[in-house]
Order: sequence, then structure tokens, then C-alpha cells
Amino acid sequence: MSKPAVYPPSAEFVSKARVQGMEGYRALHEEAVNHPETFWGGVAEREIHWFEKWTKVVDWNPPDVKWFVGGKLNVSYNCLDRHLDTPRKNKAAILWEGEPGEQRAITYQELHRLVVRFASVLKSRGYKAGDRAIIYMPMIPEAVIAMLACTRLGVIHSVVFGGFSAEALKARIQDLGATAVITADGGYRRGKEIKLKPAVDEALLDCPDVRDCIVYRRTGSDTPMKEGRDNWWHTLDETASEDCPAVPLDSEHPLYVLYTSGTTGKPKGILHTTGGYLTYVTATMKWVFDLREEDTYWCSADIGWVTGHSYIVYGPLAAGATNVMYEGAPDYPAFDRWWRIVEKYKVSILYTSPTAIRALIRQGDQWPDAHDLSSLRLLGSVGEPINPAAWEWYHRVIGKGRCPIVDTWWQTETGGILIAPMPGAVPLKPGSGTLPMPGLVADIVDLNGFEVPPGKEGYLVLRRPWPSMARTIWGDPDRYKEQYWTKVPGAYFTGDAARCDEDGYYWILGRVDDVMNVSGHRLSTMEVESALVKHAAVAEAAVVGKPHEITGQAVCCFVTLKKGQHDHDALGKELRQWVAHEIGAFARPEEIRFTDALPKTRSGKIMRRLLREIVTNHTVAGDVTTLEDMSVITSLAAQQDED
Ligand code: PRX
Repeated sequence: MSKPAVYPPSAEFVSKARVQGMEGYRALHEEAVNHPETFWGGVAEREIHWFEKWTKVVDWNPPDVKWFVGGKLNVSYNCLDRHLDTPRKNKAAILWEGEPGEQRAITYQELHRLVVRFASVLKSRGYKAGDRAIIYMPMIPEAVIAMLACTRLGVIHSVVFGGFSAEALKARIQDLGATAVITADGGYRRGKEIKLKPAVDEALLDCPDVRDCIVYRRTGSDTPMKEGRDNWWHTLDETASEDCPAVPLDSEHPLYVLYTSGTTGKPKGILHTTGGYLTYVTATMKWVFDLREEDTYWCSADIGWVTGHSYIVYGPLAAGATNVMYEGAPDYPAFDRWWRIVEKYKVSILYTSPTAIRALIRQGDQWPDAHDLSSLRLLGSVGEPINPAAWEWYHRVIGKGRCPIVDTWWQTETGGILIAPMPGAVPLKPGSGTLPMPGLVADIVDLNGFEVPPGKEGYLVLRRPWPSMARTIWGDPDRYKEQYWTKVPGAYFTGDAARCDEDGYYWILGRVDDVMNVSGHRLSTMEVESALVKHAAVAEAAVVGKPHEITGQAVCCFVTLKKGQHDHDALGKELRQWVAHEIGAFARPEEIRFTDALPKTRSGKIMRRLLREIVTNHTVAGDVTTLEDMSVITSLAAQQDED
């Protein structure tokens, strides 16, 4: 393999950076590894306001962990109240742009007022610490307001991405035992209204415990409301109090649950708690994004994913940043919408996904070239491996060769960024997340837990606790232990394959389990399979991720049908739509392949590995000794050749 290009930070960037040069990085990392208690205690004290100080920094009883034991704090207080007696009071917290073009600039003081009013609405309706609320909203400031209002009272929130279907929403409401749903009539995407409330109505038919559904009016379209259960946000706001103090909560109080796909059909509710999470996301906001007071920061993720939680809401607001927030699609009304936004708001830090970058590359350089992007000083990437060609384009065409790119590896479960360059310190290699954050001990191992030598592929595991790690799976602690803590003894199992090079840089190679990564969204093969077999015509289904030029992976389904006459073309379309209805439009399969049989072991297990080989390499070279019937593979491979 040829040696990858290396991009050291420019002297100019280093001279102004928060962490300067490799010595700066190493000093932080070593202190955190050698003295975790004093290191993290110091970070927590500097970055966070505590109503009561902790008695112990970390209590580590693998896999159980407590950070800042006994400390009391409030997340909304840290994101809002504490900025109000500083010059940040009148600084923009959110610069929002709706897809149709409306603009709102909300200062910290105004955001505080709006959050207090909404928190007092929730409080007056009886919500208190420990209750659960679902947030199902478009990318509007009220989504942030709803999240922060929950945290003000200690109500545990779970944001469900607006692209999820009624079925998926229902499953999450029920699993969480939520009693409130906060939503909107709809939002805008590619010039069309995407309605949300009908999905809520459908979901709530089977959720008798939900007492309140609060609906923000975003689009103004016709929205039926159910008497006694549904209320408009603006009506409740009319009588809202402006006195609603932040409740001091235990450091380990549950902050939110975020559902993510695992290796079974049932999504897992990843639980994050308060003190450690907030400390870590605030610190990484500064280390990785080198955040300065005057920056205009834009993370293009949706609030429904973990990136939106940690790096649109909690990290940036706790750090006092100005956040750009955009409601709609990158290509509406034209492919330069993002570059217009960068130019208009003078964005200095842009954080996005490789899928978005690849989709924009395809449209040609004329779109970014038509805009002044000179305000940019730092670029970020998240969600999936970034291929070096996309990296180089991002660096050259968007960053004009001036802006470092922080490729940030992390997961819903890790809460915050774990492997990424500190941009004023670490030389970059396109395609590598580079080095671990302070205190993080990452290893590449085989399944017995033995380290593999540099350059060799293995499983990425993490050996030490970090403050923002997940605490458990909501309602299923055994699954949490089994999934993450039993595969490699004594270490957190990430589910990713990776290798480490001779400089200690990490190269993430992708998932090793039955999880697909489509446009940086995690999707389990089993989830799609369970959706397919619910359809009356389907006998069996096996789903694999297929390499895709833009989205990284695409969903490819092998389906066997029940006996009867079938029109394959029509049924293929119907099944794609069916999956979108069962899970959400983002899960719509790219391809449905009908087959007479699926490759199975003699004990009847579907061998997805072989299907993956077929869609990736168009043939099967791997071990087939456990395969029951070789002719199945021969005919699938032949079918592939005809395509
Ligand atoms: O496979 C890794 C990939 O995304 C997975 C985590 O997905 P999710 O929990 O949805 O969180 C996405 C946003 C943090 C990981 O197990 N992944 C994430 N970031 C990167 C990545 N793969 C390579 N490089 C990255 N920078």
C-alpha cells in the first residue's frame, strides 16, 4: 500500500489553537491516562457549573460506572443561565434558517426565556424529574427548546428522528414508557411539507399512557387535534410562567435515551446521564473544534441523531457557541444552498458527513466556487469512514487548502468524540481519525482480546472508562452487558473493525456485526428483515449492506416468497415502500432481489456473509464448508451476472 499523504497543521493555525503542537496533545493525553481523577476533576471544575461538588471523580466497576459521584448540576443551567451574567448574554445561540428561507437569530438570553417558559408549561402539567418525554420534531429551534426544557426539570427525553415512521415512533414511546410527546404539525424538505402529526396520531392509538401531546405550529397546515390530549404549543405558552428554576440533579441522573440499531430487530435505548456526559461533550467541543468565542459553528446533522445531541445542542451551548441550524435539504432550491448559508452567516466551522460531501462532489465544483467560503477555518466529518478522495475534495474545494479536517470517530454509545485530531496539534492523514482523545485507551485486538500488531486489522476496543460513555440500555441491562462487555474480556467492544498504523493512527474499516451504515445512519439488517417478513407475500428475507458510491452502503434485500403468482416488479416496489412505512423513508431498500432459496448452514442459519460477498464482489470466494446447499449460491451469483 502506498504511504498516505500527511498534512501537518499550518504554523498560523497552531499559533492560535487551544492545543498547540504534538507536545500539547501528548501532555494532555498522558496526564489523563496517568492521573484520570485529577485530570477529569479539573476539566469538570473548569467547564461545568455544579450546584454541589462531587465526592469522587469516578467509580469504575466494569461495566458499571459513575462519574462525579454525588455532584449536583443541571444541563439547561449550564447551557443557558450561567451565560447570562457574562458578555454571552446577547450573543446569538442559534442562527436558524428554515428551508423556505425564514431566519431567526436567538440570543442566549432569549433562548433562556423560551426554555424557561416551555419548562414551566411541562411543570404545570405535572412533569417532573424521572418522567419521560418523546420529541419528534423537524429541525427548528423549538426542538432544542424542548430538549433543554426537559433537562431543566430532569425529564428524560428521547428524540426520535422525524424521518422515522409511526411504527418506529410507537415502539420507542412504548419502550421508554413516555407520558408526553412533543411534536410539530410538520416541517419542510425539498419544498414540500413533511407532516409529522399524522404519524404521532397513528402511534398514539397504541400508547394509552401518553397524557399530553404538545404540537408546535410550524407549517400551519390542517392538523386535527384530539380533545383532552393534544394542545398547541403557542396556546400553552400564552399563560406560561417565566419563573422555572433549573432543578439540581444528581450527576448520574438520566439525561436522555437515544434509540439506535443493534444486531437484533429491536432498537436499543442507549442511556446517557448528566455530569460526565456534559463535561465530556463540552471539553471535546473545545479540543476537537478548537472553539473560539467568535466562531460561527455549523453542524449539519439532524437533531434526531447523537451528533445533533452532543454537537448541536449540549456541547456547543454549554461552550457558549453560536450555532447555525438549517431545517431543510442541502440541494433545495439548488445545490449551492449550503454554500449560500456558509457565505451568509460567515460560518467558520463546518461539521458534516462523508455522504453529504460525496453527494455534493457529484454536482460539481461550480456550486461551491460561486460563493465566498473564506470564513471557514475548520472542517469536520462524522458518521462513516471518509474515503481519501472525498477528503481531498473537501480539503481543496471547500477548505481551499487552508482548513484542517477533523475526522471524528465515535458512536451513539460513546456520547462524544473519541478518536479525532486536535487540529492545532495532530498532522492529518486523509481517511484516518488519527489519535485518541485524552485518557482514552483504544486497542485493536483479536476475539481473544490479544492485541494485533500495527498494520493488522482487528476489533476496536476501549479499555478505560470515559465520562460520556453509555450507562446501560434502557430497560435491558443484560443486553448492554452482553453486547458490549462480553465479546472481549474487560473491554468495551465497539463493533468496528480497525487497524492502527506505525504512527499509532487509527483507521476505521467499518462494522463487524449485522449493522449497516447508510448515509451515516445506523440500521440493523435484522430490523429490515423483521419489517419484510411482516408482509403477507414474504416467506423469508436476508438483508445486507451493499457498497454505494454516495451513501457508503445501501440496503440490499434477498427475499423468498410464499407460494402463489407474483408480479416481481410490482412487488419489489411495494416491499421498498413497505419497509419505508415500517421503519422510515431513510431505510427504504435500494434493491429487492427475489430468490427461491437463501444460503443457510446445515443448522438453518442464514449465511449473510455469503450474500455480502455476492453484492460486494459478485462472487463467493470465502469459506462455504458449512453451507447446506451450494446450488443456492450458484444461482444467486448467476442472477447477479444477468443484472
Ligand atoms: O462504524 C462507525 C461509524 O458509525 C458507527 C456509529 O454510528 P452511530 O451510533 O449512528 O453514530 C454516528 C455518529 C457518531 C461507528 O460504529 N462511524 C462514525 N464515525 C465514523 C465512523 N466510521 C469511520 N469514521 C468515522 N469518523
